[in-house]
Amino acid sequence: MALSDAAKLLQKARHVVVFTGAGISAESGVATFRDALTGLWSRFDAQSLATPQAFAEDPDLVWGWYEWRRQQVQQVRPNHGHLAVARLKDHVPQLTVITQNVDDLHERAGSDTPTHLHGSLFAPRCAACSRPAPLPATTEEQPAGGRRVPPPRCAHCAGPVRPGVVWFGEALPEQALESAVRAASSCDVLLTVGTSGLVYPAAEIPRLAARSGAAVIQVNPQPTPLDPLATVNLPGPAAELLPALLTTTWPGPPLSTP
Ligand code: APR
Repeated sequence: MALSDAAKLLQKARHVVVFTGAGISAESGVATFRDALTGLWSRFDAQSLATPQAFAEDPDLVWGWYEWRRQQVQQVRPNHGHLAVARLKDHVPQLTVITQNVDDLHERAGSDTPTHLHGSLFAPRCAACSRPAPLPATTEEQPAGGRRVPPPRCAHCAGPVRPGVVWFGEALPEQALESAVRAASSCDVLLTVGTSGLVYPAAEIPRLAARSGAAVIQVNPQPTPLDPLATVNLPGPAAELLPALLTTTWPGPPLSTP
């Protein structure tokens, strides 16, 4: 059975990398990038809003979309998938959590310092001088459908403040990419969870681990291009399968409700 095969790999691993995508947050209620947008955003697709060009052409639209997403994330909670990932650190000698997600659900579940390959909704910076900018207060409720919001101005140079995320066409943060590459090339097991494996260079991380000799365990309800390199494929939702994998590998009390 696949769960016990994955458990055997985890039991003997010294360094485990967990590589996550939007799917791990889906059961918390955060829409994945490929879900259709609703409300004000329904005329757009996420990929066309997440670009430097979109921000330059219509900063209020793009900032409003990220404010809406940030508030959506603040209103949801980590699920049992995030909790199981955090719990892994009690069992494996070395654990590295790498996420493509811009939410903070890994941190809130107890993972100390996940590597954010695509930045964060909670680290805005000036689009002109790159200095970090404070997070706007979230006093005003966003309407369910979202709204346009003019970006704040930088306190130093008055440039527009932008979300601290990596947009399509932009480079990944150098340090995050370097540490992800280092971890992927030296781990024994890479557990890839809830990612379509389509967006590069992040999608190179599980491939690099496989090329470097690591076993790859995949958790995803849908087929992905990573299927052929998975040593063990666990088809299904992360919030169900990750706790099951944890208790199969290291029997113990069930995870408490997040
Ligand atoms: N459990 C596990 N996986 C799930 C679940 C679930 N409950 N629900 C959906 N998934 C899977 C989908 O089958 C899909 O393969 O999550 C994946 C989500 O894919 P994407 O939306 O493409 O997300 P991701 O792989 O994180 O995208 C990578 O692309 O859009 C950009 O910058 C954005 O970080 C993002 C990157």
